[in-house]
Amino acid sequence: MAGSIVGQKCFTVIIFLISCCCSLFLQQSLAHDYAQALDLSFQYFEAQRSGPLPSNQRATWRADSGLKDGKDQGIDLVGGYYDAGDNVKFQFPMGWGTDYFIKAHPEPNVLWAEVGDGPTDHACWMRPEDMTTPRTAYKIDASNPGSEVAAETAAAMAAASIVFKDWDPDYSSTLVTHATQLFNFADRFRANYDVSMPVVKDFYGSVNGYNDELLWAAMWLLAATSDPYYQNYVVQNAIALGGLAGTGSIQFSWDSKYSGVHVLASKILMDGTSGLNTDAFKAYQTQAESAMCSALGMSATPMKRTSGGLFHVQDWNNLHDVTGASFLIAAYGDYLTRYSQTLTCSGQIVQASFLIAAYGDYLTRYSQTLTCSGQIVQPSELLALAQQQVDYILGTNPKSFSYMVGYGTSFPQFTHHRGASIVSIKTDSAFVACDAGYEEWFQNPKPNPNVLAGAVVGGPDQNDDYTDERDNVQGGESATYNSGPIVGVLARLAGSSLSSSSSGSELSGSVMHTNDSIATSTYAQQNQQMRGETDEYDLKLDIHQELVSRWRRGKARFSKVLCTVTNRNEHAVEKLILTSEELKGPVNGLHRLRGRNNSFTLPKKLKALQAGESFNFTYVSVKAMKADISVKQALLV
Ligand SMILES: *[C@@H]1O[C@H](CO)[C@@H](O)[C@H](O)[C@H]1NC(C)=O
Ligand SMILES: *[C@@H]1O[C@H](CO)[C@@H](O)[C@H](O)[C@H]1NC(C)=O
Ligand SMILES: *[C@@H]1O[C@H](CO)[C@@H](O)[C@H](O)[C@H]1NC(C)=O
Repeated sequence: MAGSIVGQKCFTVIIFLISCCCSLFLQQSLAHDYAQALDLSFQYFEAQRSGPLPSNQRATWRADSGLKDGKDQGIDLVGGYYDAGDNVKFQFPMGWGTDYFIKAHPEPNVLWAEVGDGPTDHACWMRPEDMTTPRTAYKIDASNPGSEVAAETAAAMAAASIVFKDWDPDYSSTLVTHATQLFNFADRFRANYDVSMPVVKDFYGSVNGYNDELLWAAMWLLAATSDPYYQNYVVQNAIALGGLAGTGSIQFSWDSKYSGVHVLASKILMDGTSGLNTDAFKAYQTQAESAMCSALGMSATPMKRTSGGLFHVQDWNNLHDVTGASFLIAAYGDYLTRYSQTLTCSGQIVQASFLIAAYGDYLTRYSQTLTCSGQIVQPSELLALAQQQVDYILGTNPKSFSYMVGYGTSFPQFTHHRGASIVSIKTDSAFVACDAGYEEWFQNPKPNPNVLAGAVVGGPDQNDDYTDERDNVQGGESATYNSGPIVGVLARLAGSSLSSSSSGSELSGSVMHTNDSIATSTYAQQNQQMRGETDEYDLKLDIHQELVSRWRRGKARFSKVLCTVTNRNEHAVEKLILTSEELKGPVNGLHRLRGRNNSFTLPKKLKALQAGESFNFTYVSVKAMKADISVKQALLV
């Protein structure tokens, strides 16, 4: 009895403190322009492009390069992305650029896994446009296999196939074919790729082996194809491949995919497609839950943080671990929201650094910790945590310094990057040789002449300190795999942050605006394409909104609103797209369209809304504001 009273008190304290954190994060978040940061991130990938550049290239200081990649080996490997501050195309951490992956995978059991070589490339400081270093291409095949890189490429292509499924089904199925072949190659010819390709050893070696990549690829292929073969694979190999032997913390980087496996498995469990294997997927979810609780500081193995609040995993390029972890945290929070689930963290030790209040200071001063049990975490707290990490990167940190180049007023000027630190070939076309690059440009005391917009550098050390110098390879080098995951979190935050909407009418009582009948003709334009005719229809959809609960978090007020959409037409409605500027927070029961402003479709299971039929969705509203929801597209059939 006494125990439960203590537990209860503790619960209250924590909730209060977390509320403070959340509202702090909310206030800070208002200062950041996630859409701009997202746009910059894409510009960074443009700057890393190899091969001929398109005319709409925005990193205009770059020009065509690597135009003969693969030629010596008789294969076209032009394109893809340079890895970091160097000009090598390392396949293992690339995970991006599926057109190039298709080129690099010409036969089922052949994958070209590197162009250029690390040692000679690193011995020179050259613009990619001037490169005279060898552009040797290296491959794995059945006699020299490499499971990490084959499986990782399979995972990337399977994941991308999902994105393209609706937009370009042919391309999507091409990606699935490549992914399937690469996975079989990785699985049947199991070997560490750095044994077959020793050239990668000092750069992206097989540090934690290939077991995680095999599970990761199988999990993505399961998500992409729903083929029971992959479900059996991830279930039967869960233990053998280390899938249930997590460290209780987030492991998600170019090397380790385990936490990604756990989060993806949790999604499959939550969406109800784990079939007879529910228990196995629950075991995976337990791993994901431990990792999330660790990130929240609510476990026996909490993730370390700097005093400024940044996850600290390692000294070398720490931000790639931070962006990876933030991505998984945000994704997991969204899955919980979408499937109306919560996370319970038990037996947690709450780190003083997590409690941004006097009590946290006392704990620090007296070197104590606080232990609580069985606490329910709201999904929004996970998103707030991911947001806080991203905000730190964007400048909400003790140095008020943005670790994304080009974002904010104070950001790295001396990023360790060959192309950015040497005068643009378009400004001065004189050849810059291997050594001259080091002498004249690497040691140039002036800032980089080209702004490597969107680059996320390695970041500060464990004391939140950072030295903006070109030879700071540990903290001052950017990499494609720092930016890959942050793109995901920024897209999420730009699409719908937790910040409140300013318009709409105040909800009052338990029921608000009943029966907003919407008749719209704007859908006719989109219909044209689908039906090949231009008739306009009188579309009648009722949208009934009802307040179902409200709660407070510190000073913020939240409400949950139930919306019932009813088809009042005599025909079924298909391809419905609803849009609202105000559905910023969690929305349950609608599918948010990626990359589209505030647009939502019906859940996949509901292909059409029959005449007279209704469906429900809920959203969380800040300050009890009612959202204005309208129909962007609909097809009467
Ligand atoms: C909504 O309004 C329409 C027409 O204005 C009416 O036919 C319908 O019954 C109303 N629905 C509800 C739920 O009140
Ligand atoms: C999204 O909405 C904002 C504000 O309404 C607008 O400025 C922007 O261009 C839109 N972006 C897209 C991709 O539609
Ligand atoms: C929508 O929610 C209401 C209230 O919970 C419920 O009565 C109704 O059956 C639901 N409709 C559908 C289609 O699920």
